[in-house]
Amino acid sequence: MSYFRDNIERMVGYVPGEQPSDPEVVKLNTNENPYPPSERVLAALGSMNAEQLRRYPEPTAVMFRETAAKILGFSPEQIICGNGSDELLTMASRAFVGPQGLMAYPVPTYSLYRTLAHIEDAGFVEIPFGPDWSLPEELYSTGAKLTLLSNPNAPSGTMIEADEVAHLAKKLDGVLIVDEAYVDFAESNCLELVDKHKNVLILRTLSKGYSLAGLRFGYGIGNGKLIAGLNKVKDSYNCDAVSVMLASEAITDQEAMGENARKVKDERERLSERLRAVGFEVPESQANFLLARMPAECPLTAKQLYKKLKQHKVYVRYLEQTHLADCVRITVGRPEENGALLETMRQVGIEI
Ligand SMILES: Cc1ncc(COP(=O)(O)O)c(C=O)c1O
Repeated sequence: MSYFRDNIERMVGYVPGEQPSDPEVVKLNTNENPYPPSERVLAALGSMNAEQLRRYPEPTAVMFRETAAKILGFSPEQIICGNGSDELLTMASRAFVGPQGLMAYPVPTYSLYRTLAHIEDAGFVEIPFGPDWSLPEELYSTGAKLTLLSNPNAPSGTMIEADEVAHLAKKLDGVLIVDEAYVDFAESNCLELVDKHKNVLILRTLSKGYSLAGLRFGYGIGNGKLIAGLNKVKDSYNCDAVSVMLASEAITDQEAMGENARKVKDERERLSERLRAVGFEVPESQANFLLARMPAECPLTAKQLYKKLKQHKVYVRYLEQTHLADCVRITVGRPEENGALLETMRQVGIEI
């Protein structure tokens, strides 16, 4: 006898990347930013008054919405905030899909999408990306209530250009989420779609570009009606007072974010070149990580490489997904961290 709904009993929960407590670990496994958050965030944190915490926070994170609206050129009514963009994904699957509804997305992608379908007891259509990670034709005609596109895609880092995403939005009957968690490391984005397509919801996060994965703050941008509907399923006080204040400071400092992103992008190019030079297949990434497929003549499998690196305190991600068994995903770190990765790869038998 189980106390759980059948779908919850059957499902396997989402497994996040490891968070080792050892400070010596070179941690390149969960796509965190290797640089600290903006000085403005640190200053605001230092000046916070505990008395502010006695009361409930303003329920819609209006301080952040007003700040972000100005920076991005939208109105505050077009923005909704969440406890990380993961919470906004949960809200969307609740609001748009529900039991017996259908979700669709190209794969391989962020594995939380499938978990959310399981939690809702919804159906899901997973369509393999085309060659070179192109958008598969079948995605246009699934009839899904919610289509999800991680763009840049995790874990490939590849990107679908905005005009193609617009074409997809136009063809779909349901909502299209463009999950832009990694967009701060990319050369383009899909914001221009928001005012042209009432079914488009862009999701963003402070976890990656703004170095605030521990803060848990994300936001969605869409048509006013879409946002108003989503607000109905939101928990009353889903964003706490501390996170709203710090996220508002962080997004104000576009310069600090841009500077860190530039450093990550430089290292991303250096690391991809080094990996490709010894036979790893690495798709062109516009994110802060690389998907590296093992060279044909390699003495190690991807899983062995992951394990051996871990023994040497270098953590990368091995994703137990069918099409990725011969790949590791490597977060781009600071130059010295990437150097340590390459040196450790040499030590475990890869001639790099
Ligand atoms: C594609 C994608 N979307 C969303 C998220 C969640 O980000 P957040 O930290 O804002 O919940 C992640 C986190 O790794 C991600 O890879």
